[in-house]
Amino acid sequence: MPGVPNLAGQRLDYLRDALKQYRDGRRNVPVMRAAIGPVSDADLDALARWYSVQSPQPQDHP
Ligand code: HEM
Repeated sequence: MPGVPNLAGQRLDYLRDALKQYRDGRRNVPVMRAAIGPVSDADLDALARWYSVQSPQPQDHP
């Protein structure tokens, strides 16, 4: 999706920090705050782990 970052294979600590920043409002991006919602640290950790172990896929370029 244009403008939305690829997360597959991103570093675990980077993903965990980013998700916490959206949840806590330190990154104030309404679409991401809405997507994340009020999740627990444990759930954020599980999400970050899942994305970090995915393999990046080749992207289509116009
Ligand atoms: C409706 C669904 C979603 C939309 C439209 C969306 C959109 C976006 C956008 C526009 C950004 C960049 C924001 C910025 O400039 O800081 C972003 C960042 C991010 N999103 Fe989402 N997002 C969605 C759902 C999710 C979900 C479900 C997750 C994971 C559970 C997620 C994880 C992230 C992370 C980790 C970043 C930071 C990436 C980085 O800084 O490199 N997003 N998202």
